[in-house]
Amino acid sequence: MKNIVILISGRGSNMEAIVQACAREGWPARVAAVLSNKASAAGLTWAAAQGIPTAALDHKAFDSREAFDAELARLIDAHQPDLVVLAGFMRILSEGFVRRYEGRMLNVHPSLLPAFPGLHTHQRAIDAGCKLAGATVHFVTAELDHGPIVAQAAVPVLPGDSADALAARILPQEHLIYPRAVRWFIEGQLSVAEGRVTHNEGASQVVWGG
Ligand code: GAR
Repeated sequence: MKNIVILISGRGSNMEAIVQACAREGWPARVAAVLSNKASAAGLTWAAAQGIPTAALDHKAFDSREAFDAELARLIDAHQPDLVVLAGFMRILSEGFVRRYEGRMLNVHPSLLPAFPGLHTHQRAIDAGCKLAGATVHFVTAELDHGPIVAQAAVPVLPGDSADALAARILPQEHLIYPRAVRWFIEGQLSVAEGRVTHNEGASQVVWGG
């Protein structure tokens, strides 16, 4: 059994999708813990109700990013993680933290990276006149919302879209590609070379949604 530790900051719908896919599809893995930098994160309540160990670590209680990340790493490592999953974890991570989990930490981001890293991705895609938007699962590297791309889902941007409408079209696609990407990692199906990720058996790393 491989151990997955999931980090969230809020709603946790991607975390939920991963927990459910893991149980439904019988992955050789378990979600060993769900951790948050916010005690009020709704996803913590849901995870605890599933019997998953949870903990909150308030970043405001630490003097520096490095101090917070060191304590977070201690909490994560207590669960002997094979994979760390960032699922709406809205903290910039220190270089040391990223290096510690390099090659075994994934993130989901609601844009077609490398377009629109950072915040307000949906509005920025609309403002740029994009006709396609989407979501990306990638390995985490020191640069924010960069790193080798594991899977992407694309959806249309429709005339008159608001950021909320576009986000609502993209989120279900995140719930498709993120569990799939995590499962591939757990099964040892992903190879990374020269910053590019391939699936060993050639599974499609693209979803057309919306
Ligand atoms: C998701 O849309 C995720 O892609 C985004 O936050 C949301 C979290 O939702 N993450 C980022 O913007 C990271 N840069 P969730 O808590 O329901 O999974």
